[in-house]
Amino acid sequence: MQTATQLVPLGDRPAWKALQTHFQQIRDRHLRELFAEDPARGERFTAEASGIFLDYSKNRITDETLKLLVQLAEESGVREKIEAMFRGEKINITENRAVLHVALRAPKGESIILDGEDVVPAVHTVLDKMSDFAERVRSGAWRGHTGKRIRNVVNIGIGGSDLGPVMAYEALKHYSQRDLTFRFVSNVDGTDFAEAVQDLDPEETLFLVASKTFTTLETMTNAHSARDWALTKLGDEKAVAKHFVAISTNAKEVTKFGIDTANMFGFWDWVGGRYSMDSAIGLSTMVAIGPENFRAMLAGFHEMDVHFRTTPFEKNLPVLLGLLTIWYTDFFDAQTVAILPYEQYLKRFPAYLQQLTMESNGKHVTLDGRHVTTDTGPIYWGEPGTNGQHSFYQLIHQGTRLIPCDFIGFYKTLNPLGRHHDMLMANVFAQAEALAFGKTAEEVKAEGTADWLVPHRVFEGNRPSNTILAEVLTPAVLGKLVALYEHAVFTQGAIWNIDSFDQWGVELGKVLATRILGELESSSAPDGSHDSSTNSLIQRYRKNK
Ligand code: F6P
Repeated sequence: MQTATQLVPLGDRPAWKALQTHFQQIRDRHLRELFAEDPARGERFTAEASGIFLDYSKNRITDETLKLLVQLAEESGVREKIEAMFRGEKINITENRAVLHVALRAPKGESIILDGEDVVPAVHTVLDKMSDFAERVRSGAWRGHTGKRIRNVVNIGIGGSDLGPVMAYEALKHYSQRDLTFRFVSNVDGTDFAEAVQDLDPEETLFLVASKTFTTLETMTNAHSARDWALTKLGDEKAVAKHFVAISTNAKEVTKFGIDTANMFGFWDWVGGRYSMDSAIGLSTMVAIGPENFRAMLAGFHEMDVHFRTTPFEKNLPVLLGLLTIWYTDFFDAQTVAILPYEQYLKRFPAYLQQLTMESNGKHVTLDGRHVTTDTGPIYWGEPGTNGQHSFYQLIHQGTRLIPCDFIGFYKTLNPLGRHHDMLMANVFAQAEALAFGKTAEEVKAEGTADWLVPHRVFEGNRPSNTILAEVLTPAVLGKLVALYEHAVFTQGAIWNIDSFDQWGVELGKVLATRILGELESSSAPDGSHDSSTNSLIQRYRKNK
Protein backbone atom coordinates (compact mmCIF):
# COMPACT_ATOMS: atom_id res chain seq x y z
CA MET A 1 0.00 0.00 0.00
CA GLN A 2 1.16 3.52 -0.65
CA THR A 3 1.75 5.29 2.64
CA ALA A 4 0.73 8.87 3.24
CA THR A 5 4.20 10.11 2.51
CA GLN A 6 4.59 8.04 -0.65
CA LEU A 7 1.30 9.25 -2.02
CA VAL A 8 1.82 11.91 -4.64
CA PRO A 9 0.22 15.19 -3.49
CA LEU A 10 -3.29 15.48 -4.87
CA GLY A 11 -2.52 18.37 -7.21
CA ASP A 12 0.40 16.45 -8.74
CA ARG A 13 -1.48 13.26 -9.55
CA PRO A 14 -1.80 12.88 -13.34
CA ALA A 15 -5.55 12.26 -13.16
CA TRP A 16 -6.01 15.43 -11.11
CA LYS A 17 -4.14 17.47 -13.69
CA ALA A 18 -6.13 15.88 -16.48
CA LEU A 19 -9.35 16.65 -14.60
CA GLN A 20 -8.33 20.30 -14.33
CA THR A 21 -7.93 20.52 -18.09
CA HIS A 22 -11.08 18.52 -18.67
CA PHE A 23 -13.02 20.76 -16.30
CA GLN A 24 -12.30 23.77 -18.50
CA GLN A 25 -13.92 21.93 -21.40
CA ILE A 26 -16.97 20.79 -19.53
CA ARG A 27 -17.72 23.55 -17.02
CA ASP A 28 -20.10 25.38 -19.37
CA ARG A 29 -21.73 22.36 -20.94
CA HIS A 30 -25.40 22.05 -20.12
CA LEU A 31 -27.14 18.87 -19.09
CA ARG A 32 -29.64 19.63 -21.86
CA GLU A 33 -26.86 19.21 -24.43
CA LEU A 34 -25.40 16.15 -22.76
CA PHE A 35 -28.77 14.42 -22.76
CA ALA A 36 -29.55 15.53 -26.32
CA GLU A 37 -26.25 14.11 -27.57
CA ASP A 38 -26.81 10.71 -26.03
CA PRO A 39 -30.36 9.36 -25.91
CA ALA A 40 -29.18 6.43 -23.80
CA ARG A 41 -27.54 8.62 -21.17
CA GLY A 42 -30.33 8.04 -18.64
CA GLU A 43 -29.74 4.29 -18.79
CA ARG A 44 -25.99 4.31 -19.22
CA PHE A 45 -25.05 6.47 -16.24
CA THR A 46 -26.65 4.17 -13.72
CA ALA A 47 -25.47 1.43 -11.41
CA GLU A 48 -27.24 -1.04 -9.17
CA ALA A 49 -26.13 -3.22 -6.33
CA SER A 50 -28.14 -5.40 -4.00
CA GLY A 51 -31.36 -3.60 -4.76
CA ILE A 52 -29.98 -0.07 -4.48
CA PHE A 53 -30.27 1.71 -7.82
CA LEU A 54 -28.29 4.85 -8.56
CA ASP A 55 -29.10 7.12 -11.48
CA TYR A 56 -26.20 9.57 -11.74
CA SER A 57 -26.93 10.66 -15.30
CA LYS A 58 -28.06 14.12 -14.19
CA ASN A 59 -24.52 15.05 -13.21
CA ARG A 60 -22.29 17.39 -15.12
CA ILE A 61 -20.05 14.63 -16.37
CA THR A 62 -19.17 12.80 -19.54
CA ASP A 63 -17.60 9.40 -20.08
CA GLU A 64 -14.26 11.17 -20.00
CA THR A 65 -15.02 12.72 -16.60
CA LEU A 66 -15.92 9.35 -15.23
CA LYS A 67 -12.81 7.75 -16.65
CA LEU A 68 -10.60 10.42 -15.11
CA LEU A 69 -12.36 10.31 -11.74
CA VAL A 70 -11.93 6.54 -11.61
CA GLN A 71 -8.29 7.00 -12.59
CA LEU A 72 -7.98 9.50 -9.74
CA ALA A 73 -9.32 6.92 -7.32
CA GLU A 74 -6.78 4.39 -8.56
CA GLU A 75 -3.89 6.86 -8.40
CA SER A 76 -4.99 7.87 -4.90
CA GLY A 77 -4.63 4.30 -3.68
CA VAL A 78 -8.34 3.95 -2.89
CA ARG A 79 -8.25 0.24 -3.67
CA GLU A 80 -5.29 -0.37 -1.39
CA LYS A 81 -6.82 1.78 1.31
CA ILE A 82 -10.08 -0.18 1.19
CA GLU A 83 -8.09 -3.38 1.65
CA ALA A 84 -6.13 -1.81 4.51
CA MET A 85 -9.37 -0.92 6.28
CA PHE A 86 -10.87 -4.38 5.83
CA ARG A 87 -7.61 -6.01 6.94
CA GLY A 88 -7.69 -4.08 10.20
CA GLU A 89 -4.66 -1.89 9.57
CA LYS A 90 -4.43 1.14 11.83
CA ILE A 91 -5.57 3.62 9.21
CA ASN A 92 -6.80 6.08 11.84
CA ILE A 93 -3.22 7.17 12.25
CA THR A 94 -3.69 10.11 14.60
CA GLU A 95 -5.37 7.84 17.15
CA ASN A 96 -3.35 4.78 16.16
CA ARG A 97 -6.50 2.75 15.70
CA ALA A 98 -7.94 0.30 13.24
CA VAL A 99 -11.22 1.27 11.57
CA LEU A 100 -13.32 -1.84 11.63
CA HIS A 101 -16.99 -0.96 11.60
CA VAL A 102 -17.17 -3.50 8.77
CA ALA A 103 -16.42 -6.18 11.38
CA LEU A 104 -19.62 -5.25 13.23
CA ARG A 105 -21.63 -6.73 10.39
CA ALA A 106 -19.32 -9.57 9.39
CA PRO A 107 -21.27 -12.82 9.44
CA LYS A 108 -20.39 -15.52 11.95
CA GLY A 109 -17.56 -17.59 10.62
CA GLU A 110 -15.78 -14.76 8.82
CA SER A 111 -12.57 -13.69 10.39
CA ILE A 112 -10.89 -10.30 10.70
CA ILE A 113 -7.61 -10.37 12.53
CA LEU A 114 -6.53 -7.42 14.61
CA ASP A 115 -3.32 -7.59 16.63
CA GLY A 116 -3.27 -11.35 16.16
CA GLU A 117 -6.85 -11.89 17.27
CA ASP A 118 -10.03 -12.58 15.33
CA VAL A 119 -12.50 -9.83 16.32
CA VAL A 120 -15.59 -11.37 14.73
CA PRO A 121 -16.44 -13.91 17.49
CA ALA A 122 -16.48 -11.11 20.10
CA VAL A 123 -18.84 -9.10 17.88
CA HIS A 124 -21.27 -12.02 17.83
CA THR A 125 -20.96 -12.62 21.57
CA VAL A 126 -22.11 -9.04 22.16
CA LEU A 127 -24.87 -9.39 19.56
CA ASP A 128 -26.12 -12.51 21.32
CA LYS A 129 -26.09 -10.74 24.68
CA MET A 130 -27.96 -7.80 23.13
CA SER A 131 -30.51 -10.18 21.59
CA ASP A 132 -31.15 -11.88 24.90
CA PHE A 133 -31.60 -8.54 26.65
CA ALA A 134 -33.77 -7.08 23.88
CA GLU A 135 -36.07 -10.10 23.97
CA ARG A 136 -36.42 -9.83 27.74
CA VAL A 137 -37.42 -6.19 27.51
CA ARG A 138 -39.76 -6.76 24.57
CA SER A 139 -41.47 -9.75 26.20
CA GLY A 140 -41.82 -8.09 29.58
CA ALA A 141 -39.53 -10.61 31.28
CA TRP A 142 -37.16 -7.80 32.28
CA ARG A 143 -38.95 -6.04 35.11
CA GLY A 144 -38.32 -2.78 36.87
CA HIS A 145 -37.29 -2.58 40.51
CA THR A 146 -40.90 -2.61 41.76
CA GLY A 147 -41.84 -5.50 39.50
CA LYS A 148 -43.56 -3.44 36.85
CA ARG A 149 -43.04 -4.15 33.18
CA ILE A 150 -40.72 -1.79 31.26
CA ARG A 151 -42.78 0.42 28.97
CA ASN A 152 -40.32 3.21 28.18
CA VAL A 153 -36.78 3.05 26.86
CA VAL A 154 -34.70 6.23 27.03
CA ASN A 155 -31.39 6.31 25.18
CA ILE A 156 -28.97 8.82 26.65
CA GLY A 157 -26.04 9.63 24.37
CA ILE A 158 -24.76 12.28 22.02
CA GLY A 159 -23.12 12.40 18.59
CA GLY A 160 -22.76 8.89 17.24
CA SER A 161 -24.24 7.53 20.46
CA ASP A 162 -27.46 9.41 19.71
CA LEU A 163 -27.78 10.23 16.02
CA GLY A 164 -27.47 6.63 14.82
CA PRO A 165 -29.95 5.28 17.40
CA VAL A 166 -32.51 8.03 16.88
CA MET A 167 -32.19 7.97 13.09
CA ALA A 168 -32.54 4.17 13.00
CA TYR A 169 -35.48 4.22 15.43
CA GLU A 170 -37.31 6.75 13.29
CA ALA A 171 -36.35 5.01 10.05
CA LEU A 172 -37.55 1.62 11.27
CA LYS A 173 -40.49 2.71 13.40
CA HIS A 174 -42.74 0.68 11.13
CA TYR A 175 -41.06 -2.46 12.47
CA SER A 176 -41.00 -1.37 16.10
CA GLN A 177 -42.88 -2.83 19.03
CA ARG A 178 -45.60 -0.26 19.51
CA ASP A 179 -46.31 -0.88 23.19
CA LEU A 180 -42.86 0.40 24.03
CA THR A 181 -42.11 4.12 24.04
CA PHE A 182 -38.70 5.29 22.89
CA ARG A 183 -37.11 8.61 23.75
CA PHE A 184 -33.66 9.99 22.98
CA VAL A 185 -31.86 12.49 25.18
CA SER A 186 -28.67 14.10 23.95
CA ASN A 187 -28.44 17.81 24.67
CA VAL A 188 -26.96 19.07 27.94
CA ASP A 189 -29.80 21.60 27.83
CA GLY A 190 -31.93 20.33 30.74
CA THR A 191 -35.03 20.83 28.64
CA ASP A 192 -34.10 17.81 26.55
CA PHE A 193 -34.14 15.50 29.56
CA ALA A 194 -37.08 17.20 31.26
CA GLU A 195 -39.32 16.94 28.21
CA ALA A 196 -38.23 13.36 27.46
CA VAL A 197 -39.32 12.05 30.86
CA GLN A 198 -42.09 14.43 31.90
CA ASP A 199 -44.86 11.94 31.16
CA LEU A 200 -42.95 8.77 32.08
CA ASP A 201 -43.17 6.63 35.19
CA PRO A 202 -39.71 5.79 36.60
CA GLU A 203 -41.00 2.36 37.63
CA GLU A 204 -41.56 1.53 33.95
CA THR A 205 -38.55 3.32 32.48
CA LEU A 206 -35.25 1.85 31.39
CA PHE A 207 -32.29 4.10 30.58
CA LEU A 208 -29.66 3.01 28.07
CA VAL A 209 -26.60 5.12 28.75
CA ALA A 210 -24.71 5.05 25.46
CA SER A 211 -21.22 6.46 25.43
CA LYS A 212 -18.11 5.00 23.89
CA THR A 213 -15.89 6.80 26.39
CA PHE A 214 -18.40 7.12 29.25
CA THR A 215 -16.82 10.48 30.00
CA THR A 216 -18.72 12.72 27.57
CA LEU A 217 -19.93 15.68 29.58
CA GLU A 218 -23.42 15.93 28.11
CA THR A 219 -24.14 12.22 28.42
CA MET A 220 -22.79 11.86 31.93
CA THR A 221 -24.70 14.94 33.09
CA ASN A 222 -27.93 13.57 31.62
CA ALA A 223 -27.22 10.10 33.02
CA HIS A 224 -26.75 11.52 36.54
CA SER A 225 -29.96 13.53 36.21
CA ALA A 226 -31.71 10.37 35.05
CA ARG A 227 -30.44 8.48 38.06
CA ASP A 228 -31.62 11.24 40.41
CA TRP A 229 -35.00 11.33 38.65
CA ALA A 230 -35.41 7.56 38.89
CA LEU A 231 -34.21 7.22 42.46
CA THR A 232 -36.40 10.06 43.71
CA LYS A 233 -39.35 7.76 43.06
CA LEU A 234 -37.74 4.37 43.38
CA GLY A 235 -35.87 5.33 46.53
CA ASP A 236 -33.36 2.50 46.51
CA GLU A 237 -29.85 2.49 44.99
CA LYS A 238 -30.46 -1.14 44.03
CA ALA A 239 -33.01 0.09 41.49
CA VAL A 240 -30.13 1.25 39.29
CA ALA A 241 -29.47 -2.36 38.29
CA LYS A 242 -32.99 -2.72 36.87
CA HIS A 243 -33.34 0.70 35.28
CA PHE A 244 -29.89 1.47 33.84
CA VAL A 245 -27.73 -0.36 31.39
CA ALA A 246 -24.53 0.93 29.85
CA ILE A 247 -23.20 0.72 26.32
CA SER A 248 -19.54 1.58 26.34
CA THR A 249 -15.94 0.59 25.80
CA ASN A 250 -15.00 1.85 29.27
CA ALA A 251 -15.87 -0.69 31.98
CA LYS A 252 -14.06 1.31 34.68
CA GLU A 253 -16.19 4.43 34.20
CA VAL A 254 -19.35 2.33 33.89
CA THR A 255 -18.64 0.75 37.28
CA LYS A 256 -17.85 4.17 38.75
CA PHE A 257 -21.27 5.38 37.65
CA GLY A 258 -22.84 2.49 39.55
CA ILE A 259 -23.85 0.22 36.70
CA ASP A 260 -22.89 -3.41 37.15
CA THR A 261 -20.76 -4.52 34.21
CA ALA A 262 -23.16 -7.47 33.89
CA ASN A 263 -25.52 -4.84 32.52
CA MET A 264 -22.93 -3.41 30.18
CA PHE A 265 -22.80 -4.00 26.45
CA GLY A 266 -19.31 -3.53 25.14
CA PHE A 267 -17.68 -2.52 21.94
CA TRP A 268 -14.19 -1.59 20.90
CA ASP A 269 -11.89 1.33 20.20
CA TRP A 270 -11.86 0.38 16.50
CA VAL A 271 -15.49 1.48 16.20
CA GLY A 272 -15.69 5.22 15.63
CA GLY A 273 -18.64 6.97 17.31
CA ARG A 274 -20.20 7.98 14.01
CA TYR A 275 -19.75 4.44 12.68
CA SER A 276 -21.28 2.75 15.72
CA MET A 277 -25.01 2.41 15.08
CA ASP A 278 -24.59 -1.26 14.27
CA SER A 279 -22.55 -1.98 17.41
CA ALA A 280 -24.05 -2.24 20.92
CA ILE A 281 -24.82 1.47 20.49
CA GLY A 282 -27.72 0.15 18.43
CA LEU A 283 -29.26 -1.55 21.48
CA SER A 284 -32.27 0.80 21.45
CA THR A 285 -32.78 -0.08 17.79
CA MET A 286 -32.67 -3.76 18.60
CA VAL A 287 -35.13 -3.41 21.48
CA ALA A 288 -37.43 -1.45 19.17
CA ILE A 289 -37.37 -3.71 16.11
CA GLY A 290 -36.26 -7.02 17.60
CA PRO A 291 -33.07 -9.02 17.12
CA GLU A 292 -34.12 -10.58 13.85
CA ASN A 293 -34.74 -7.26 12.16
CA PHE A 294 -31.53 -5.89 13.65
CA ARG A 295 -29.60 -8.78 12.14
CA ALA A 296 -31.31 -8.17 8.82
CA MET A 297 -30.07 -4.57 9.02
CA LEU A 298 -26.52 -5.86 9.67
CA ALA A 299 -26.83 -8.17 6.67
CA GLY A 300 -27.75 -5.12 4.57
CA PHE A 301 -24.68 -3.27 5.77
CA HIS A 302 -22.57 -6.32 4.97
CA GLU A 303 -23.91 -6.62 1.44
CA MET A 304 -22.86 -3.05 0.75
CA ASP A 305 -19.46 -3.73 2.36
CA VAL A 306 -18.88 -6.64 0.01
CA HIS A 307 -20.02 -4.57 -2.96
CA PHE A 308 -17.65 -1.75 -1.98
CA ARG A 309 -14.71 -4.08 -1.55
CA THR A 310 -15.16 -6.16 -4.66
CA THR A 311 -16.84 -4.10 -7.39
CA PRO A 312 -14.86 -2.29 -10.08
CA PHE A 313 -14.94 1.44 -9.41
CA GLU A 314 -17.02 2.23 -12.53
CA LYS A 315 -19.91 0.26 -11.05
CA ASN A 316 -19.17 0.78 -7.38
CA LEU A 317 -21.95 2.83 -5.78
CA PRO A 318 -20.05 4.33 -2.84
CA VAL A 319 -17.04 5.06 -5.02
CA LEU A 320 -19.22 6.79 -7.62
CA LEU A 321 -20.97 8.90 -4.97
CA GLY A 322 -17.64 9.79 -3.39
CA LEU A 323 -16.06 10.73 -6.71
CA LEU A 324 -18.98 12.92 -7.73
CA THR A 325 -18.70 14.81 -4.46
CA ILE A 326 -15.00 15.41 -5.10
CA TRP A 327 -15.86 16.61 -8.61
CA TYR A 328 -18.32 19.25 -7.37
CA THR A 329 -16.40 20.24 -4.24
CA ASP A 330 -13.00 20.70 -5.83
CA PHE A 331 -13.77 21.63 -9.41
CA PHE A 332 -17.14 23.38 -9.35
CA ASP A 333 -16.48 24.90 -5.90
CA ALA A 334 -19.75 23.59 -4.55
CA GLN A 335 -19.88 24.13 -0.82
CA THR A 336 -22.68 21.78 0.14
CA VAL A 337 -24.54 18.58 -0.67
CA ALA A 338 -28.29 18.33 -0.09
CA ILE A 339 -29.69 15.01 1.12
CA LEU A 340 -33.35 14.82 0.19
CA PRO A 341 -35.08 11.63 1.27
CA TYR A 342 -38.60 11.25 -0.07
CA GLU A 343 -39.53 8.96 2.79
CA GLN A 344 -40.91 10.37 6.00
CA TYR A 345 -39.29 7.61 8.05
CA LEU A 346 -35.89 8.95 6.95
CA LYS A 347 -36.51 12.33 8.51
CA ARG A 348 -33.40 12.15 10.69
CA PHE A 349 -31.20 10.69 7.93
CA PRO A 350 -29.77 14.09 6.87
CA ALA A 351 -28.88 14.89 10.50
CA TYR A 352 -27.26 11.49 10.86
CA LEU A 353 -25.25 12.02 7.68
CA GLN A 354 -24.08 15.41 8.91
CA GLN A 355 -22.01 13.82 11.64
CA LEU A 356 -20.93 10.92 9.46
CA THR A 357 -19.69 13.12 6.66
CA MET A 358 -18.64 16.34 8.36
CA GLU A 359 -16.93 14.91 11.45
CA SER A 360 -15.15 12.49 9.13
CA ASN A 361 -14.03 14.77 6.32
CA GLY A 362 -13.99 18.22 7.88
CA LYS A 363 -10.20 18.16 7.97
CA HIS A 364 -7.59 20.73 6.97
CA VAL A 365 -4.41 18.65 6.89
CA THR A 366 -3.37 15.52 5.05
CA LEU A 367 -2.20 12.35 6.78
CA ASP A 368 1.35 13.65 6.74
CA GLY A 369 0.33 16.88 8.45
CA ARG A 370 0.50 19.22 5.45
CA HIS A 371 -2.21 21.74 4.78
CA VAL A 372 -4.57 20.43 2.13
CA THR A 373 -4.42 22.17 -1.22
CA THR A 374 -8.09 21.72 -2.11
CA ASP A 375 -11.36 22.00 -0.27
CA THR A 376 -12.28 18.90 1.71
CA GLY A 377 -15.61 17.77 3.17
CA PRO A 378 -18.60 19.75 1.96
CA ILE A 379 -21.50 20.74 4.21
CA TYR A 380 -24.24 18.13 4.21
CA TRP A 381 -27.76 19.19 4.96
CA GLY A 382 -31.32 18.36 4.01
CA GLU A 383 -34.88 17.63 4.92
CA PRO A 384 -37.34 15.03 3.78
CA GLY A 385 -39.38 15.75 0.66
CA THR A 386 -41.77 17.22 -0.11
CA ASN A 387 -41.42 19.65 2.81
CA GLY A 388 -38.17 21.11 1.54
CA GLN A 389 -39.84 22.02 -1.75
CA HIS A 390 -41.88 24.61 0.09
CA SER A 391 -38.92 26.16 1.84
CA PHE A 392 -35.35 26.00 0.55
CA TYR A 393 -35.73 24.44 -2.91
CA GLN A 394 -36.23 27.93 -4.33
CA LEU A 395 -32.55 28.59 -3.73
CA ILE A 396 -31.51 25.26 -5.23
CA HIS A 397 -33.51 26.01 -8.40
CA GLN A 398 -32.85 29.69 -8.91
CA GLY A 399 -30.19 30.80 -6.43
CA THR A 400 -26.60 31.55 -7.35
CA ARG A 401 -25.06 28.51 -5.72
CA LEU A 402 -24.49 25.07 -7.14
CA ILE A 403 -25.98 22.51 -4.78
CA PRO A 404 -25.61 18.86 -5.79
CA CYS A 405 -28.61 16.92 -4.50
CA ASP A 406 -29.14 13.29 -3.55
CA PHE A 407 -32.79 12.31 -3.97
CA ILE A 408 -33.71 9.11 -2.17
CA GLY A 409 -36.98 7.35 -2.97
CA PHE A 410 -38.71 3.98 -2.83
CA TYR A 411 -40.88 2.01 -5.25
CA LYS A 412 -43.22 1.06 -2.46
CA THR A 413 -44.44 2.74 0.67
CA LEU A 414 -44.94 1.13 4.05
CA ASN A 415 -48.15 3.09 4.46
CA PRO A 416 -50.20 2.85 1.25
CA LEU A 417 -52.76 5.61 1.30
CA GLY A 418 -54.68 6.57 -1.81
CA ARG A 419 -52.46 8.37 -4.32
CA HIS A 420 -49.97 9.62 -1.74
CA HIS A 421 -47.03 7.50 -2.79
CA ASP A 422 -47.33 8.17 -6.50
CA MET A 423 -47.63 11.86 -5.70
CA LEU A 424 -44.54 11.70 -3.52
CA MET A 425 -42.49 9.92 -6.16
CA ALA A 426 -43.75 12.18 -8.94
CA ASN A 427 -42.13 14.97 -6.96
CA VAL A 428 -38.78 13.16 -6.79
CA PHE A 429 -38.63 12.75 -10.54
CA ALA A 430 -40.02 16.23 -11.20
CA GLN A 431 -37.53 17.97 -8.96
CA ALA A 432 -34.55 16.17 -10.47
CA GLU A 433 -35.84 16.92 -13.97
CA ALA A 434 -36.50 20.59 -13.21
CA LEU A 435 -33.07 21.03 -11.66
CA ALA A 436 -31.29 19.45 -14.59
CA PHE A 437 -33.20 20.91 -17.52
CA GLY A 438 -34.76 24.06 -16.14
CA LYS A 439 -36.89 26.28 -18.34
CA THR A 440 -35.49 28.60 -20.96
CA ALA A 441 -36.56 32.20 -21.62
CA GLU A 442 -38.09 31.01 -24.90
CA GLU A 443 -40.18 28.44 -23.12
CA VAL A 444 -41.30 30.99 -20.55
CA LYS A 445 -42.15 33.52 -23.28
CA ALA A 446 -44.08 30.90 -25.25
CA GLU A 447 -46.37 30.59 -22.24
CA GLY A 448 -47.38 34.20 -22.76
CA THR A 449 -45.34 35.62 -19.89
CA ALA A 450 -44.87 39.37 -19.96
CA ASP A 451 -41.35 40.33 -21.03
CA TRP A 452 -40.43 41.99 -17.74
CA LEU A 453 -41.41 38.82 -15.84
CA VAL A 454 -39.52 36.41 -18.05
CA PRO A 455 -36.14 36.57 -16.26
CA HIS A 456 -37.82 35.88 -12.93
CA ARG A 457 -39.47 32.77 -14.27
CA VAL A 458 -36.46 31.32 -16.04
CA PHE A 459 -34.86 28.22 -14.58
CA GLU A 460 -31.27 27.97 -15.75
CA GLY A 461 -31.15 24.27 -14.99
CA ASN A 462 -27.83 22.42 -15.18
CA ARG A 463 -28.12 21.69 -11.46
CA PRO A 464 -26.86 18.21 -10.73
CA SER A 465 -28.47 15.44 -8.77
CA ASN A 466 -28.32 11.74 -8.04
CA THR A 467 -31.46 9.67 -7.71
CA ILE A 468 -31.18 6.69 -5.39
CA LEU A 469 -34.03 4.18 -5.45
CA ALA A 470 -34.80 1.02 -3.53
CA GLU A 471 -37.84 -1.19 -3.22
CA VAL A 472 -39.07 -0.34 0.24
CA LEU A 473 -37.50 0.85 3.48
CA THR A 474 -36.64 -2.35 5.31
CA PRO A 475 -33.99 -2.84 8.00
CA ALA A 476 -31.71 -4.36 5.35
CA VAL A 477 -32.18 -1.42 2.99
CA LEU A 478 -31.41 1.02 5.79
CA GLY A 479 -28.17 -0.87 6.44
CA LYS A 480 -27.28 -0.66 2.75
CA LEU A 481 -28.00 3.06 2.58
CA VAL A 482 -25.93 3.87 5.64
CA ALA A 483 -23.03 1.74 4.42
CA LEU A 484 -23.32 3.41 1.01
CA TYR A 485 -22.63 6.80 2.57
CA GLU A 486 -20.02 5.47 5.02
CA HIS A 487 -17.99 4.16 2.12
CA ALA A 488 -18.59 7.26 -0.02
CA VAL A 489 -17.08 9.26 2.85
CA PHE A 490 -14.19 6.80 2.94
CA THR A 491 -13.58 7.23 -0.78
CA GLN A 492 -13.48 11.01 -0.48
CA GLY A 493 -11.14 10.90 2.53
CA ALA A 494 -8.84 8.45 0.76
CA ILE A 495 -8.48 10.79 -2.21
CA TRP A 496 -7.97 13.87 -0.06
CA ASN A 497 -5.52 11.72 1.93
CA ILE A 498 -6.94 12.90 5.23
CA ASP A 499 -7.75 11.01 8.42
CA SER A 500 -11.51 10.48 8.12
CA PHE A 501 -11.66 8.73 11.47
CA ASP A 502 -10.41 11.22 14.05
CA GLN A 503 -12.21 14.33 15.35
CA TRP A 504 -9.67 16.61 16.99
CA GLY A 505 -11.78 19.57 15.96
CA VAL A 506 -14.23 18.95 18.79
CA GLU A 507 -11.58 19.23 21.53
CA LEU A 508 -10.85 22.94 21.89
CA GLY A 509 -14.45 23.94 22.53
CA LYS A 510 -14.78 21.18 25.14
CA VAL A 511 -11.73 22.40 27.07
CA LEU A 512 -12.81 26.04 26.96
CA ALA A 513 -16.35 25.15 28.05
CA THR A 514 -15.02 23.38 31.14
CA ARG A 515 -12.92 26.42 32.04
CA ILE A 516 -15.78 28.85 31.41
CA LEU A 517 -18.24 26.74 33.38
CA GLY A 518 -16.03 27.27 36.43
CA GLU A 519 -16.19 31.01 35.85
CA LEU A 520 -19.97 31.00 35.44
CA GLU A 521 -20.49 29.09 38.66
CA SER A 522 -17.78 30.60 40.84
CA SER A 523 -18.74 33.16 43.48
CA SER A 524 -15.48 35.05 42.91
CA ALA A 525 -15.08 37.40 39.97
CA PRO A 526 -13.74 35.79 36.79
CA ASP A 527 -10.10 36.54 36.08
CA GLY A 528 -10.88 38.22 32.78
CA SER A 529 -8.30 36.14 30.97
CA HIS A 530 -10.28 35.67 27.76
CA ASP A 531 -10.61 38.10 24.87
CA SER A 532 -12.75 41.18 25.51
CA SER A 533 -15.80 39.73 23.82
CA THR A 534 -15.78 36.47 25.78
CA ASN A 535 -14.98 38.31 29.05
CA SER A 536 -17.91 40.63 28.68
CA LEU A 537 -20.32 37.88 27.62
CA ILE A 538 -19.35 35.95 30.76
CA GLN A 539 -19.87 39.08 32.89
CA ARG A 540 -23.23 39.80 31.30
CA TYR A 541 -24.42 36.22 31.82
CA ARG A 542 -23.28 36.19 35.46
CA LYS A 543 -25.13 39.45 36.11
CA ASN A 544 -28.36 38.36 34.45
CA LYS A 545 -28.65 34.63 35.11
O1 F6P B 1 -18.29 14.93 19.14
C1 F6P B 1 -17.20 14.15 19.47
C2 F6P B 1 -17.56 12.76 19.79
O2 F6P B 1 -16.43 12.11 20.21
C3 F6P B 1 -18.21 12.00 18.62
O3 F6P B 1 -17.28 11.54 17.71
C4 F6P B 1 -18.93 10.91 19.35
O4 F6P B 1 -19.84 10.26 18.53
C5 F6P B 1 -19.54 11.72 20.47
O5 F6P B 1 -18.54 12.67 20.82
C6 F6P B 1 -19.98 10.94 21.67
O6 F6P B 1 -18.91 10.26 22.27
P1 F6P B 1 -19.16 9.13 23.33
O7 F6P B 1 -19.88 8.01 22.68
O8 F6P B 1 -17.80 8.72 23.81
O9 F6P B 1 -19.99 9.70 24.46
